[in-house]
Amino acid sequence: ETDEMLEPRPPVVTVMGHVDHGKTRLLDSIRKANVIEGEAGGITQHIGAYQIETQHEGEDRALTFIDTPGHEAFTAMRARGAKVTDIAVLVVAADDGVMPQTIEALNHAQAAEVPIVVAVNKVDKEGANPDKVKGQLAEYGLVPEEYGGDTMFIPVSALKKEGLDELVEAILLTADAALDLRANPDKNARGVAIEANLDKGRGAVATVLVQSGTLAVGDTIVAGRAHGRVRAMFNENGENLDVALPSRPVQVLGLSSVPRAGDTFLVTNDERTARQIAEKREAADRNAALAKRRKRITLEDFD
Ligand code: GTP
Ligand code: NA
Ligand code: MG
Repeated sequence: ETDEMLEPRPPVVTVMGHVDHGKTRLLDSIRKANVIEGEAGGITQHIGAYQIETQHEGEDRALTFIDTPGHEAFTAMRARGAKVTDIAVLVVAADDGVMPQTIEALNHAQAAEVPIVVAVNKVDKEGANPDKVKGQLAEYGLVPEEYGGDTMFIPVSALKKEGLDELVEAILLTADAALDLRANPDKNARGVAIEANLDKGRGAVATVLVQSGTLAVGDTIVAGRAHGRVRAMFNENGENLDVALPSRPVQVLGLSSVPRAGDTFLVTNDERTARQIAEKREAADRNAALAKRRKRITLEDFD
């Protein structure tokens, strides 16, 4: 790996936090605020992963955001050993304050040794108390800068679209201070499936995050137990892409079945290899399930 040509790549940011604290709304607002005016179609639907382009200290910069419904997807991804995120944005509603899933999300991020930026959301609401959130999180080791710590707390309102630029700025500052993000774009792609579903007309539709290499239309891939040739790729605006570079999330068409969130994918040299890898994985999963069942039967025999 040391001889590889590593090039800078955008940070991958996962938004986490307690249910209903505004993760999805925040992501939708950031995306809308960064859509180039007159862009075809505009935004009609929420998507779980997208990239924005922005300016930071006079430079063009890109950022990839990933939503976590609840935080189950993130848990599932971690359970499958997939490390997708470079930075976590911990969303805490300023009226509710720190809640059980806030702590769970925090524990996940700390266990993964991922830098955390806190978005104190819903500051527009009556009863919002951002200082209380700071005090609560300080007890878990997230100490705000003004108390001598190094965690950035950004007050935002996803509803009123306030504080969004400051949040993006804080993420880039944190990324640049803590991380040197690079990947080799010049090889077969590897990455992780973020979400997937079966579409009536289009078949399996998977959003995958390219982590290294470049994914191209026509590539043969295996994602978990799904395999196939990439028939088409789309970005967050539904525009066709021919290639996807490191840190880019793309919707991929052409898989034989629907991969699970957290399944890793890789490009193979031909379709036969992809099918064989998928079949091997399927057999391994089947054996593991059988072994589990056998164990359960044996234990029940003693009851
Ligand atoms: P889960 O994915 O279910 O965990 O929820 P979430 O964290 O994605 O929350 P979501 O974005 O769905 O927002 C929950 C509710 O809070 C919605 O009704 C939002 O409109 C509302 N909400 C989100 N952000 C704000 C905000 O800044 N101010 C106010 N007043 N309401 C907000
Ligand atoms: Na919600
Ligand atoms: Mg949500």
